[in-house]
Amino acid sequence: MARERPRRPAPWIASPARLRSLARAWRARGERVAFVPTMGYLHDGHLSLVERAARSADRVILSVFVNPLQFEARADLASYPRDLAHDRRLLRGVRVDAVFAPRAATFYAPGHATRVTVAGVGERLEGAFRPGHFAGVATVVTKLLHVVEPDQLWLGQKDAQQVAVLRRMVLDLDFAVDVHVGPTVREADGLAMSSRNARLTARERAQAPVLYVALQAGRASLAARGSAPLARRALAAERAMRAAVACAPLARLDYARLVDPGTFDAPAPGARKGLLVVAARFPSARLIDNLQVPLGSAR
Ligand code: PAF
Repeated sequence: MARERPRRPAPWIASPARLRSLARAWRARGERVAFVPTMGYLHDGHLSLVERAARSADRVILSVFVNPLQFEARADLASYPRDLAHDRRLLRGVRVDAVFAPRAATFYAPGHATRVTVAGVGERLEGAFRPGHFAGVATVVTKLLHVVEPDQLWLGQKDAQQVAVLRRMVLDLDFAVDVHVGPTVREADGLAMSSRNARLTARERAQAPVLYVALQAGRASLAARGSAPLARRALAAERAMRAAVACAPLARLDYARLVDPGTFDAPAPGARKGLLVVAARFPSARLIDNLQVPLGSAR
């Protein structure tokens, strides 16, 4: 059981060495440390991860670091929403023991040249649409895990392919950390919470729930063709998702697919669980979403 602690503002720490020695001191006392990596501009999705982490560990460390390595376009990095005062305010309402906020100029040593790449799952869909993105994510998460040395790594289901890439990396590289995944938190109209939503104009925001509508159309299509071969059901579901996104004039579809949640390849015949994934570009932001679906006794 996680112990109750009074809520006082968590210290914000920029130095990797300071953060590491604080986390090591907690672990030396037998306290389990949970880690929630973020790029800031926090929302209820992040807070729900923090709350879950706080229930399952003794200490929670959250990082706020807009990682330049995972942005393929400079403009995307420059316009990524940032508001540390807003983040500090939101964190007052949850149990966080330390915030690690390294500085980009010093977190990456001058001349840094190492990348962690995850083949296969890291190359499909988001990996193909955003070349270099997952290498940037895997590299920064490797660095963060080396600094924090947590018992638990907490990730959001909203970024399902990131979860699959990092699970693969943790397994392949023997990180001594358990990966935990919190469910997607949605706005009342179904839009998955994301820091990028802040960039949407009012018209784009009104059309953005179309991603969730598309996922539900995909799920309904799969359910309606329960006895058909899986490949045929997948095609019909993908068609249904594409048709739904086409109803939003400001959305340009990148992909709408049924995949295996671990590999992001097509689910094998006989698979019992699948993941519907969708990505669409609005003029001001690119959005992604996903929905776990049972495949029943799919052939
Ligand atoms: O999901 C995010 O916010 C980022 O990709 C992460 C995991 C914090 C790495 O920069």
